[in-house]
Amino acid sequence: MAILETTDLTKRFGGVTAVDGVDLTIPTGEITSLIGPNGAGKTTLFDMLAGALTPTTGSIRFQEEDITGLAPEAIVREGIAKSFQITNVFDGISVLENVRVAVQARHRGGWNVYRHADSKTEYTDEALEILGFVGLDEERDRPASTLSHGDKRSLEIGLALAVDPELLLFDEPAAGMSQMEIEAMLDLIDELVGEYTIMLVEHNMDIVMNVSDRVVVLHNGAVIASGAPSSVRADDAVQEAYLGGVA
Ligand SMILES: Nc1ncnc2c1ncn2[C@@H]1O[C@H](COP(=O)(O)OP(=O)(O)O)[C@@H](O)[C@H]1O
Ligand SMILES: [Mg+2]
Repeated sequence: MAILETTDLTKRFGGVTAVDGVDLTIPTGEITSLIGPNGAGKTTLFDMLAGALTPTTGSIRFQEEDITGLAPEAIVREGIAKSFQITNVFDGISVLENVRVAVQARHRGGWNVYRHADSKTEYTDEALEILGFVGLDEERDRPASTLSHGDKRSLEIGLALAVDPELLLFDEPAAGMSQMEIEAMLDLIDELVGEYTIMLVEHNMDIVMNVSDRVVVLHNGAVIASGAPSSVRADDAVQEAYLGGVA
């Protein structure tokens, strides 16, 4: 079953059509990677899914509901979390506190407003569970500012998980990572599989070919190919557009 569907999704900035009539069907529980050359429209598409940009035309359905044009907070509440906006992490407070605040914000902001007074413990337990999941339990008391780049990215994933999403949008999770950090990120993504549906924008082709169930190729705002990683890699139009015909 599809968790997300876009129909004729389009975004224009003045004379530039950044995303051009995109029809996407994202199956529940799978990892779909979105690839394409710089300027192809990947970030614009993600921003529309996350509510940061309003589509010019077209629609977005998530879990059978029309979410087109909803505000970012409303989209988070529907169950879509976008990660790797650096502003997510508060440097001055501890790793645990970062996640606890995010968990608390979800409970306060959601339907569950009449929590009793001892819920702080509950938030802490939930935050600790998330830290275990992303492999940061031993870093819990460190100020977030002292984390390595790789651990900071894991914390960002933890913050995305704190909103209890169904769909995770990762925009270039491996950017700026060392090979060791990339391997840790791949392990973490492996653990997320099954629990969450994931959409990934990623330039590192090893990662894309490794983790994806499906790959969607954007070029000039339009989908030019989609399917299993191996078939997309072999596609002539993809070779031409994305790899400049040289690979
Ligand atoms: N806020 C904006 N205003 C005007 N043009 C934009 C804006 N955001 C993106 N674009 C243009 O839309 C196109 C797609 O950009 P983007 O979605 O960032 O591509 P990608 O993430 O695939 O590199 C590019 O031509 C870019 O210059
Ligand atoms: Mg981009």
